[in-house]
Amino acid sequence: MVSIISVVGARPNFMKVAPLYEEIHSRGGQQILVHTGQHYDENMSKVFFEDLAMPTPDIYFGIGSGSHASQTARVMLEFEKTIEEFEPELVIVVGDVNSTVACALVCAKMNVPVAHVEAGLRSFDRSMPEEINRIVTDSISDFLLTPSMGANENLLREGAEPDKIHFVGNIMIDSLHRSVKNSQKSNVLEEFNIEPSEFGVMTLHRPSNVDDSESLFHLVESACIASEQSPIIFPVHPRTKKLFGKKKFENLIQSSNLMISDPLGYLDFIRLLSNSKFVLTDSGGIQEESTALGIPCLTLRENTERPITVSMGTNTIVGTDRELILSMVSEIIQTGGKKGIIPDLWDGKTASRISDVIQFAIS
Ligand code: UD1
Repeated sequence: MVSIISVVGARPNFMKVAPLYEEIHSRGGQQILVHTGQHYDENMSKVFFEDLAMPTPDIYFGIGSGSHASQTARVMLEFEKTIEEFEPELVIVVGDVNSTVACALVCAKMNVPVAHVEAGLRSFDRSMPEEINRIVTDSISDFLLTPSMGANENLLREGAEPDKIHFVGNIMIDSLHRSVKNSQKSNVLEEFNIEPSEFGVMTLHRPSNVDDSESLFHLVESACIASEQSPIIFPVHPRTKKLFGKKKFENLIQSSNLMISDPLGYLDFIRLLSNSKFVLTDSGGIQEESTALGIPCLTLRENTERPITVSMGTNTIVGTDRELILSMVSEIIQTGGKKGIIPDLWDGKTASRISDVIQFAIS
């Protein structure tokens, strides 16, 4: 008998489900893992299962890429069959990707309770596909498991029932704590031939930054100029790679200290991040990881759904303003940059608190 189905689909889901899956297993829960296959490349998916010691998914849909509507609809069609077959007591979805909203919607229609891990985050920018996914998923979930009190406030403001909301802390930090030590075995610093604290890291994948050639060129050129002060390592997301192959990018990068690579596995990336001097990113998860590691983060977006990383952590929102990016990088190199404190319940024990909330489905 299966009581719990956990869903993963895209790269940022894996490190959120891994510690929870393990905790439920240690409590004797009957669970299965479904991978929608939204992300499918070896270095966007398989390597994370190895690095996080996660079991092979019990069910793989192989959905792959596509428009938002087709990706979401294909996940829904497959997940409906899974629910019919297993009749679980609870489905766990995490984060804000298309697979998250698709599976939550199927459950809501089939009267299966859903727990949403990382509920309540809001950028207040509805042009982001993830913002729509967050709002819809939260509005139809039965257990709203939040990483911060600010998330609780967002949910209450939207009319969520207070007894559905549980402040459990940040599940990503559970994976981070476990993996920092493990990441010592990664050779990534040696492969890039760099010394600890003598480099920055950059990641870009938001549609607003990477789908338009001019916007992407502007940011990459800014990073190339910044790399004159300190080398910057830039693992390139598949979405970003689409435009990146063009000649003008090649010429720009060739004469700079920007070092590009394919997307990295989890342990390689954590070793890189934890040894870096600063990070430039438009990722949500990396804003949190850098706050947890005490690494200054410059967020290349106009807003964040994770404001606690700015108010308490090491994050600064810089948008795409070149002068600001360059002056902030100089400041970090000269002064060490923004110091933060670790937010409440970002302590590596979130999987245990979530399991307490959903214990009815475990035992
Ligand atoms: C998705 C999530 C985003 C998350 C990001 C992390 C949504 C709406 N977006 O964005 O919230 O921050 O993952 O990476 O769910 N591709 C590959 N190989 C892969 C995966 C993708 O080549 O393994 C390419 C495909 O050409 C695809 C493109 O990247 O069209 C974008 O992939 P998609 O899953 O649609 O969204 P992401 O931009 O990765």
